[in-house]
Amino acid sequence: RALAIVRELEEKCGTPETKLLQVADAMTVEMHAGLASEGGSKLKMLISYVDNLPTGDEEGVYYALDLGGTNFRVLRVELGGKTGGIVSQEFAEASIPPELMVGTSDALFDYIAAELAKFITEEEEKYHPPPGRQRELGFTFSFPVMQTSINSGTLIRWTKGFSIDDTVGNDVVAELTKAMHRQGVDVNVTALVNDTIGTLAGGRFSNKDVAIAVIMGTGTNAAYVERAQAIPKWHGPLPKSGEMVINMEWGNFKSSHLPITDYDHALDAESLNPGEQVFEKLTSGMYLGEILRRVLLRMAEEAAFFGDEVPPRLNTPFVLRTPDMSAMHHDTSADLRVVSSKLKDIFEVSNTSLKTRRLVVELCNIITTRGARLAAAGILGVLKKMGRDSATGGVVEKTVIAMDGGLYEHYAEYRNCLENTVIKLLGGGNSSSNISFEHSNDGSGIGAALLAASHSHYLEERS
Ligand code: BG6
Ligand code: GLC
Repeated sequence: RALAIVRELEEKCGTPETKLLQVADAMTVEMHAGLASEGGSKLKMLISYVDNLPTGDEEGVYYALDLGGTNFRVLRVELGGKTGGIVSQEFAEASIPPELMVGTSDALFDYIAAELAKFITEEEEKYHPPPGRQRELGFTFSFPVMQTSINSGTLIRWTKGFSIDDTVGNDVVAELTKAMHRQGVDVNVTALVNDTIGTLAGGRFSNKDVAIAVIMGTGTNAAYVERAQAIPKWHGPLPKSGEMVINMEWGNFKSSHLPITDYDHALDAESLNPGEQVFEKLTSGMYLGEILRRVLLRMAEEAAFFGDEVPPRLNTPFVLRTPDMSAMHHDTSADLRVVSSKLKDIFEVSNTSLKTRRLVVELCNIITTRGARLAAAGILGVLKKMGRDSATGGVVEKTVIAMDGGLYEHYAEYRNCLENTVIKLLGGGNSSSNISFEHSNDGSGIGAALLAASHSHYLEERS
């Protein structure tokens, strides 16, 4: 019976190439629709107001604040201009207390502002800032925001584990600025960016061929450089560069071609945001472990997978985290010792048989493979939209995809499957050799600082 449940899952999660190509095409179609009009698609295709990526000329000391991944970070980055590169960078990191993720807007922003104030005080004791110069900051805020300028924008909705009603519809820079005043710290926010945009900017700074950024972490999303003329919904002036960076918010992508199981439906229905972020719930770090827990619970209930009793802990949503799933998936010991100890630690089940542990590893593989292959199809969709997929038979421009996020960084099976699948879908060999991946470690914070620099209020004075 247990085996039958595994086989059924395997079948329902199947991602043959034909299906992936359909998903990629659907992604391209939705991209067009989202660029055509506001509300034209599940894909918001948000205009970032970034029409120039870093050149390397950026100079000065900037702060950055990075909210929305597993950890919350404050950074200080010193940029040395044309020849100096990044002179120094320092950061402090904390996790957001869970109650603040579902509390009030003021409480969340007060917490962030207080951490920033503390960090600035410490930094300024070490480096003495020139008197009279206003501090400037790039704010990486990794949620869907309708930007109204490079440094303002309203929150469309929360995603991942956040749900704070009174922030929705408000300008998040104004929320942050008010909180900074309450905390007695004076900082000017000169750039508001999504983590994908920050990663793209940070990636471009170190490699000029970076044209796409993808986050595979708690959530998932992608940003890329679009031709301004290919954005019908943009009514502003045509940027000099002719380009505009787009935050796709692809986590909200949905298509009838996606292989969705009953476990996914139940997870979605019980989530903080039912019906939303469907692609994210199939592919990202916040959810993979939770999908696995749901399958194991069914196996325990219907096939006595862990013995006569259903281990009570198996009923707790999100107790099985994706890093634990990754550890089990990568267990290379002959007797699957890691799997055994994880099952014991997390669910308090001991004495599992080797056969049971093997099935657990198989489940990890099924769920992860589906997620990674779907993410790969998403990337192919973006490459197609950009005309960099070689379908036309022409030479494809060298394209580097800047990648970040805990899932990509720490889950090797996921990362390898994703990268190999993209290359395979591109046809392997010649046509795909111009497409490559680069891990842009914490690039989004540096990217935000770089964008804060290129939008600095002191810029005109200098030039
Ligand atoms: C970090 C970036 O490296 O990765 C963040 O600095 C980003 O901006 C994060 O949000 C995403 O990964 P995770 O795993 O922390 O959600
Ligand atoms: C979620 C957010 C998105 C972010 C992504 C990765 O999908 O909505 O803005 O980029 O997670 O952190």
